Amino acid sequence: MVTVVTHPLVQHKLTLMRDERTGVKEFRELAGEVSLLLAYEAMRDLDLAQERLRTPIVEDDFPVLSGKKLALVAILRAGLVMTEAIVDLVPAAKVGHIGLYRDPQTLAPVAYYNKLPADIADRRVFVTDPMLATGGSASAAIRSLKDAGAQGGNITLMCILTAPEGIAVIERDHPDVRIVTAAVDSHLNDHGYIVPGLGDAGDRIYGTK
Ligand code: URA
Repeated sequence: MVTVVTHPLVQHKLTLMRDERTGVKEFRELAGEVSLLLAYEAMRDLDLAQERLRTPIVEDDFPVLSGKKLALVAILRAGLVMTEAIVDLVPAAKVGHIGLYRDPQTLAPVAYYNKLPADIADRRVFVTDPMLATGGSASAAIRSLKDAGAQGGNITLMCILTAPEGIAVIERDHPDVRIVTAAVDSHLNDHGYIVPGLGDAGDRIYGTK
C-alpha cells in the first residue's frame, strides 16, 4: 500500500527541495522537516491506551502510546537525515542502520553494514530512504529486516520521493510493507535518477557533489 502525503506544507517543502538553487543547509533542513511530516502520517495508527492521572484540576483517563515499541532504520547514507529528524518525535525509538552498495558485476545490492536493534522482531519498524528509485536497495534492506525477524506488516518504508519502478519492486518483493511518501514522480532516466526528481539526495544533503 502506498500513502502519498499531499499536505500543502509537505508539497511546498518538497518543491523547495526540487529547486536546483536550494543549497546544502536549506536542503538538509527541508529533508528533516519533510521527514517529520511524513512520520506524522506514517505513525497515525500507533496504538493508544488510557492512563489514569491527575491534572492540576481533576483525575481522569488520558491517551498514551502503547503497543509495540518503535524502531527507525536508516538506509545509509541519505536515510540518516530522516531518522535523525524523526527520532526527536519518538525519542524512545531504537535506531538501526543498513549500508548497501551495488556489486559492479552483478548489480545486486550487497550489505556492507547491518546493525539492528536486537529486539527488532517485536517492534514497529520505520525504514528511511529518501529516494525510492529502482527499489533494489530498499528491497534488500527490507529482506534483511525480515531475516532478523521483523514482520512485513510491522514495516513502513518512508521515502521523500518515489518512482513507479521502485514502488513496483517493493510491491512485488514485499507486498506486506507499506510505503509512505511525499510524491510519486514520473519515471527513472537512463542513469537511474528519478524524473523530475531532486537530483542525488545524498550529495545534496552532504554537499558532496
Ligand atoms: N537516488 C537519488 O539520490 N536520486 C535519484 O534520483 C535516484 C536515486
